[in-house]
Amino acid sequence: MEKLFVKGGTPLKGKVYISGAKNAAVAIIPAALLSDGICRIENIPNIADVTVLLQMLKGLGASVKYVNKSTVEIDPTGVNTHIVPYEMTRKTRASSYFMGAMLGRFKKAKVALPGGCDFCARPLDLHEKGFAALGADVEKDDGMLDLKADRLVGTSIYLDTVSVGATINIMLAACKARGRTIIENAAKEPHIVDLANFLNSMGADIKGAGTDVLKISGVSHLGSTTYSIIPDQIEAGTYMVAAAATGGDVKIKNVIPKHLESISAKLIEAGATVEEGDEFVRVYRKGELRKCNIKTQPHPGFPTDMQPQMVTLLSIANGTSMVTEAVWDSRFKYVNYLDRMGAKIKVDGKVAVIEGVDKLKSAPVKADDLRAGAALIIAGLIADGTTQIENIHLIDRGYEDYVEKFTALGADIERINIPDSNIADSVG
Ligand code: EPZ
Repeated sequence: MEKLFVKGGTPLKGKVYISGAKNAAVAIIPAALLSDGICRIENIPNIADVTVLLQMLKGLGASVKYVNKSTVEIDPTGVNTHIVPYEMTRKTRASSYFMGAMLGRFKKAKVALPGGCDFCARPLDLHEKGFAALGADVEKDDGMLDLKADRLVGTSIYLDTVSVGATINIMLAACKARGRTIIENAAKEPHIVDLANFLNSMGADIKGAGTDVLKISGVSHLGSTTYSIIPDQIEAGTYMVAAAATGGDVKIKNVIPKHLESISAKLIEAGATVEEGDEFVRVYRKGELRKCNIKTQPHPGFPTDMQPQMVTLLSIANGTSMVTEAVWDSRFKYVNYLDRMGAKIKVDGKVAVIEGVDKLKSAPVKADDLRAGAALIIAGLIADGTTQIENIHLIDRGYEDYVEKFTALGADIERINIPDSNIADSVG
């Protein structure tokens, strides 16, 4: 088993280049199924979730060719099945986007319910409601969602909860429906806008992306495109927090600073300095960290995918902070490991109360999901001693070359293969 060894105490310094956005890539890859031609996708991140989705496309009959490390060409015309089995969907949540893409393309889809990060229950009822509103029969059969429509017809859909996944899945199917679909209370995340831009570059007619009303006029044909994925907001945010937490000075390049505003605002409140340039942000901290309160929200609010990293930073801030998780029912499982490292955090349902301590101390810990893993790396960087992190395949899902990137910033971080008999027991 591979483990990460992080020796703390070094302030991060230097430059880091941010890769393409995971949550845009994992929607754009299934969306390529809707094309009648070749999709050349640039700035694609080299992460496990992307590998899994590209393998799925290949397994279904598409041709997938890497032109270079960050550019891939997908020709989906060879796909002639609408069935996606559990062996394909179990590794990533984003495989659910094959539902909307297949339904749009074939007017039918039978896709196994997905696996992926399971920090709490992740229902698909809004996705199903959207498919049904477009005219599909929706049934569950043997762990698969079975969708069938004689034809898809545009309609108005109101999402009871702002959902990234439901907005994406409905957008994918509605692109090829007859007439106009309106999604109200749609998600506004940067990756929603990126997916809409990708689909529009193939010939779709989607307006309003980035607002809470999306208008999608169906078209009969989507063609070839060349498209470059936006930089990853959460990868950038993770390095920003790591810079501030370690008292370092890092220039984070290849970012869209507008996407980082909610993160910058909270880092400044917590005592860091954030300077913005055209395509970079510089984060440094000279003084002490201060308490601050945070509530996660759909975009443009503070992203839930940055919550574990910020809680880790606040664990060594002066004073008592309160962090409310308002997107997911609960997302604080990782706190057990921070406590093990000496943090003082009390969780009550959706709220964590963090009493700042002087320092964390190393311990053997385990990544229970992708962002929990990122938070534990930051914990290791600020702790005394060497923290060992297990389950790092979950970090590989969403962070490209993180060991190399942190090492280039001066971190003492190493990935080591440990024979199973030498592995220490972990909590949880
Ligand atoms: C996406 O998940 C992201 N994943 C998540 O990032 C992110 O945490 C989340 O959006 C919120 O920003 C991808 O983009 C692949 P939702 P998704 O549907 O689409 C409720 C990461 O670490 N809901 O926006 O699954 C749901 O329970 C991952 O990169 C329903 O009630 O999230 C939650 O409370 C983890 N019914 C809220 O909506 C539904 O049918 C938001 O979920 C769907 C969702």
